[in-house]
Amino acid sequence: MAPRWCFALLLLLCAAAGADASKGKWDPVIRMPGEEEPATGDNSSEEGEDGVGTRWAVLVAGSSGYGNYRHQADICHAYQILRKGGVKEENIVVFMYDDIANNPLNPRPGVIINHPEGEDVYAGVPKDYTGEAVTAKNFYAVLLGNKTAVTGGSKKVIDSKPNDHIFIYYSDHGGPGVLGMPNLPYLYAADFIKVLQEKHASNTYAKMVIYVEACESGSIFEGLMPADLNIYVTTASNAEESSWGTYCPGMEPSPPSEYITCLGDLYSISWMEDSETNNLKEETIKKQYEVVKKRTSDMNSYSAGSHVMEYGDMTFKDEKLYLYQGFNPANTNITNKLFLQAPKAAINQRDADLLFLWRRYELLHGKSKEKANVLTEISETVAHRKHLDNSIDFIGKLLFGFENGPSELQAVRPSGKPLVDDWDCLKRMVRIFESHCGSLTQYGMKHMRAFANICNNGVSGTTMKEASINTCGGHNSARLSTLIQGYSA
Ligand SMILES: *[C@@H]1O[C@H](CO)[C@@H](O)[C@H](O)[C@H]1NC(C)=O
Ligand SMILES: *[C@@H]1O[C@H](CO)[C@@H](O)[C@H](O)[C@H]1NC(C)=O
Ligand SMILES: *[C@@H]1O[C@H](CO)[C@@H](O)[C@H](O)[C@H]1NC(C)=O
Repeated sequence: MAPRWCFALLLLLCAAAGADASKGKWDPVIRMPGEEEPATGDNSSEEGEDGVGTRWAVLVAGSSGYGNYRHQADICHAYQILRKGGVKEENIVVFMYDDIANNPLNPRPGVIINHPEGEDVYAGVPKDYTGEAVTAKNFYAVLLGNKTAVTGGSKKVIDSKPNDHIFIYYSDHGGPGVLGMPNLPYLYAADFIKVLQEKHASNTYAKMVIYVEACESGSIFEGLMPADLNIYVTTASNAEESSWGTYCPGMEPSPPSEYITCLGDLYSISWMEDSETNNLKEETIKKQYEVVKKRTSDMNSYSAGSHVMEYGDMTFKDEKLYLYQGFNPANTNITNKLFLQAPKAAINQRDADLLFLWRRYELLHGKSKEKANVLTEISETVAHRKHLDNSIDFIGKLLFGFENGPSELQAVRPSGKPLVDDWDCLKRMVRIFESHCGSLTQYGMKHMRAFANICNNGVSGTTMKEASINTCGGHNSARLSTLIQGYSA
């Protein structure tokens, strides 16, 4: 099967931002535009009583491991922006594995940066859901405000009221119909949309804005996201393409030389650097979408960039961003400087892992045991990727014939149609495959479309099982077996 993404590290000429947000005290009281300052002693304009309601946010980094530094860096950075905007800590729920700041590979212990010249974004980030508590199930429970459904973590949930505004931002690897989680199973699109519908039915928010960075992130909403939930969504990529990591070693601009991993993701740093360099009481949701779309597109070439997409309710795009991200008074007079900046490069999410491992290998000395271990990890990773690609291809040929196998598996449904009609079937096929062929891993999420098409063609579980056994035989052993890794569905 000819992979449709590019293995080369492509140079991207794009605007980079100095993005050094000016510091300043924020005014804890956020008022509606034109609203008067209250007289002394009047406490009626505390947040939550000014007509805007309370601002809530859920920030999710869906990966772990130092090679995925950038996802947690994105999330920490977003936290700092919201705090500078006056959103209260008690109203921001953070999901991150939290294995980066104090990772032995981190050259600046206790510090995380999201830009080559950026300041620390880790300090002060609350450890609501870390390690084993970073799960899709906890994410749903938090969003629904259901404390009893939460396992582990701080139990902080979105306890929102009808007037409130909610902002959700997610950054990680993904694949057709799925978003990654550091603890399996992954988040499946249909489950997430169902949770959004439940949240809407509970009448506990006025409006919601969701930003998602992941490969194929459009597929989470394409043909699935209703327009009547008062929710507006943008995604880093459409339903069929990679999203891109940036500020990577060896690219321009590069992280400081001691970093062997990418510091950020292209769509993510685009919205955040835009938010930091604009007055969010004036900038609209629509304007940010347009700015981010342009910056993420690789100068409209899309060769090392992706198509930023929008879904859901398009009726409130003229609202100002401060309703969701808050307002930093230090940015009152700021105008966007993003497009005056230097060239930039990006790497697709799935190659960023390998870039990191190779960097690590190259920098280790001589014949150390660690160097040998890293080499083993690289060769295992590469071999497992090939095994996954070949197995899927082989199964396709067994199910649909030598000629039609590849095209059936890769077929993309017309826009407006969801990836798959029967999501339980998709999960079932993933489990059958993983039982016989080993864990999909974050790389293998890209094959979700193949499983979806197997379901869309009405293939039975029994037939799929036979095909998987015939293809993989006894492969399900060693480090990448599901006995060790667990199931993705
Ligand atoms: C507002 O202030 C009054 C008097 O200072 C106090 O009794 C009341 O509880 C306050 N309300 C809130 C919501 O803080
Ligand atoms: C919260 O979650 C628990 C446990 O999953 C469930 O039994 C309960 O019905 C949920 N509460 C609401 C209000 O949905
Ligand atoms: C913004 O500009 C106005 C008018 O020039 C000035 O009065 C105000 O102090 C400035 N605000 C900030 C935060 O720089």
